Amino acid sequence: MVSVLVTGATGFIGSRLVSELVKMGIEVTTLVRPGKHTEEKTEEIVGDLTKGDFDFGEKHFDCVFHLASHTPLEKNAKVLENVNLNGTKNLFSKLRTKTKAMIYVSGLGVYGDVGDKVIEDTQSYDPNTKFVKIRVEAQRFLEAECKQNAIDFAVVHFGDVYGSKGWFSEMVIKRLQNNSFKLPGGGKYFKGFVHVDDAVGSMIAIFEKKAYGKTYIIADNLPVTFKDFVDFTAEKIGAKKPGSVPSILAKAVLGGDLIKLLTTSMKVKNQRISEIYKFKYPSYKEGIPQVLSELGI
Ligand SMILES: NC(=O)c1ccc[n+]([C@@H]2O[C@H](COP(=O)([O-])OP(=O)(O)OC[C@H]3O[C@@H](n4cnc5c(N)ncnc54)[C@H](OP(=O)(O)O)[C@@H]3O)[C@@H](O)[C@H]2O)c1
Repeated sequence: MVSVLVTGATGFIGSRLVSELVKMGIEVTTLVRPGKHTEEKTEEIVGDLTKGDFDFGEKHFDCVFHLASHTPLEKNAKVLENVNLNGTKNLFSKLRTKTKAMIYVSGLGVYGDVGDKVIEDTQSYDPNTKFVKIRVEAQRFLEAECKQNAIDFAVVHFGDVYGSKGWFSEMVIKRLQNNSFKLPGGGKYFKGFVHVDDAVGSMIAIFEKKAYGKTYIIADNLPVTFKDFVDFTAEKIGAKKPGSVPSILAKAVLGGDLIKLLTTSMKVKNQRISEIYKFKYPSYKEGIPQVLSELGI
């Protein structure tokens, strides 16, 4: 039987991934922190990445999907480093001889401030926040270790992943509904968005097609400003279009790194993943209505 490990399986994207893998009849093992459980029935290994207090025993995996991480909302670089870098090292030390492949999840922030240029999969990294510097270091570690241990390796750089959980429902929909949402810096920067089902579908396509050895940009092909994305949502839920808050004020509340990641304008192309995966939601115009209907709005 095909067997995989998912880290971050209790999170927004990980839980959706687990659900798809279970539907496909794949044997899914998950790494969960004490007291946490996955929504689907999976073989749970209890442990914390930062402590390395877990063991996969006799298990062997066809692929490890490594999604567990701290979000850029965490302002303490030591905490970020502990989870995203040291945690990744701890995980790998337990998997060295136990997996054939690994997919590492990262974000578009690694490309830095690219101006008006349209970013393709071949673009080089220019990490300019603590959060992404740590993530690139973790990626470089895994690349080297996987190569040395003959483990297939792929990296996915997600755009902003929207769905019925996570930042979109918590920070956008709920706040639009109670009229407390404000666009940092006016929202006129371009973003690459991806519906959570396409984020999951892309990873599964890489796994099924064994399309390793590459990095992939995972966002839909219609760059849109954050303002237009949020205004479209507001219109669909019958809320007022939001006003804006100066970036400097937003920085004081959310932290400089998060605001830099959020307000850096980026237009992306998703050519490489499109060669092996067809997006269910080619743009936010199809994806947002699906999310709202899932939420019963
Ligand atoms: N959401 C987006 O828009 C987006 C965009 C680009 C990239 N990404 C990346 O995609 C991945 C998944 O994102 P997400 O939105 O699903 O994140 P999420 O909802 O915040 O989930 C994070 C997951 O990591 C786990 N985790 C955190 N610290 C851990 C530790 N010390 N040991 C073990 N597990 C730990 C959490 O477990 P608990 O339930 O115990 O907290 C949770 O399952 C992340 O790597 C994220 O950076 C997300």
